[in-house]
Amino acid sequence: MSEFITLEQIDQITELIRGKIKIQPEIGLILGSGLGSLAEAVEEAVIIPYADIPTWPVSTVVGHAGRLVIGRLENKPVFVMQGRIHYYEGYKITTIGLPVRVMQRLGIHSLIVTNAAGAVHPDYVPGDLMLIIDHVNLPGMSGLNPLYGPNLDDLGPRFPDMSQAYDRKYQQFARQAAQEAGVELREGVYVFLSGPSFESPADLRFLRTIGADAVGMSTVPETIVARHGGTRVLGISGISNKANLDGNTPTSHEEVLEAGQVIVPKLTAVIRGVLRRM
Ligand code: HPA
Repeated sequence: MSEFITLEQIDQITELIRGKIKIQPEIGLILGSGLGSLAEAVEEAVIIPYADIPTWPVSTVVGHAGRLVIGRLENKPVFVMQGRIHYYEGYKITTIGLPVRVMQRLGIHSLIVTNAAGAVHPDYVPGDLMLIIDHVNLPGMSGLNPLYGPNLDDLGPRFPDMSQAYDRKYQQFARQAAQEAGVELREGVYVFLSGPSFESPADLRFLRTIGADAVGMSTVPETIVARHGGTRVLGISGISNKANLDGNTPTSHEEVLEAGQVIVPKLTAVIRGVLRRM
């Protein structure tokens, strides 16, 4: 297999999925750690385990079910990824973008991307939702960009703009949906780190200095690939833990998954409200 993802590989997967579904999905949804249960609300669902799709990257992380759920949510045709892969699992940074490429070839115009994140903003607490206004692609600054390698000119430009990575109209939809549902919605900058180790207190002081409100190990590669292909993006973080700025509170994956249970009902309400407005 090529070192980089190719149009042939993308289109093989796209055709396989197209052969199994009856609806034309328009909106992609990526559900992060502990947030997968939203997929259970999808109606008329066709379920495809990732393992049934040759070359589809499979997650090894607890809390990621690993299947596609394609159907309707709020009567909108959706393509839901229940679980995702991360760079720290050993995948190439370019491979992280493969599912988004397939969504684009299937004709999806918008992507809702969610994650579990640590709060860096001092006022943000576990259980909060944070609308992603912008991101910092820290690994990207030293060469780890999902668009590394030959540009797929059929899909997008060599040097894609990132001035509005997160769609402003969709941000407005999310604010309205949150208000309607009585859910408090924080806002801020999400910083992507490669992980898998959590941050040291000094890492976190650095991240706060460069403008981080939340930190996590996903979302940014998918967003960059989405924007490269002209897909509109809405990003929402579920704050799962308070980042360990004082050095006295250890962070664990268990607390990340536990917080998901508080976050899911709020996230579900906001996403449903956004879908109704899309
Ligand atoms: N740091 C990085 N990634 C995370 C965190 C965190 O505190 N919580 C959930 N994902």
